[in-house]
Amino acid sequence: MVDTTAPTGTPLIDMRNISIAFGGIRAVDDASIDLFPGEVVALLGHNGAGKSTLIKILSVAYKRDSGQIFVNGEEASISNPRDAKKYGIETIYQTLALADNVDAAANLFLGRELMTDWGTLDDGAMEAEARKVMGRLNPRFQRFKEPVVKLSGGQRQSVAIARAILFNARILIMDEPTAALGPQETAQVGELVMQLKADGIGIFLSLPTGSA
Ligand SMILES: Nc1ncnc2c1ncn2[C@@H]1O[C@H](COP(=O)(O)OP(=O)(O)O)[C@@H](O)[C@H]1O
Ligand SMILES: [Mg+2]
Repeated sequence: MVDTTAPTGTPLIDMRNISIAFGGIRAVDDASIDLFPGEVVALLGHNGAGKSTLIKILSVAYKRDSGQIFVNGEEASISNPRDAKKYGIETIYQTLALADNVDAAANLFLGRELMTDWGTLDDGAMEAEARKVMGRLNPRFQRFKEPVVKLSGGQRQSVAIARAILFNARILIMDEPTAALGPQETAQVGELVMQLKADGIGIFLSLPTGSA
């Protein structure tokens, strides 16, 4: 049978025959998976199935025992988290890793701040950029002047995603993004994912099965 919905062209990511063991535990055993632009691929599995481990082989360069990784059709060598970013791979962890006491713009530009010609922080430019990218992801978001600790879980998630895509990520990895969210916020994350998909970003989404 021919799957007419199958994407064509070169996958953003092609992981082939990936295996990794920790001591005697085969955390990932001969897994192959690919991801095309504008595609959302879910990694489904129960707690301990190896979802986070497979993700971390891409994002933080867990050393695999075997297998190959291709990015845009070329074999990739990812040996640290910076390499992953170089390949346009951004990861959002459950913890989000936001700086709680500063606002959305400051979080988006954390460690890569925009400066004026005089060498001071260009807060105006950063807020303008933040409004642009947040406006695309979450048009209802207006709380630009508040520290992110005051935001809802869904809003915090959108700040973390905005930070990931601000610097041109083509591949977004989300490890159980809705684990700590209520139904309404989970729906909001679903909308964010559909928006990213429409923008041509490829998304790996890990989701637990059989829990709760
Ligand atoms: N850094 C590590 N050291 C040793 N064992 C690990 C490590 N990371 C994961 N594991 C083991 O690998 C298996 C898969 O874990 P994980 O990838 O976290 O699963 P999931 O994300 O699907 O819940 C589990 O048995 C887990 O205990
Ligand atoms: Mg996990």
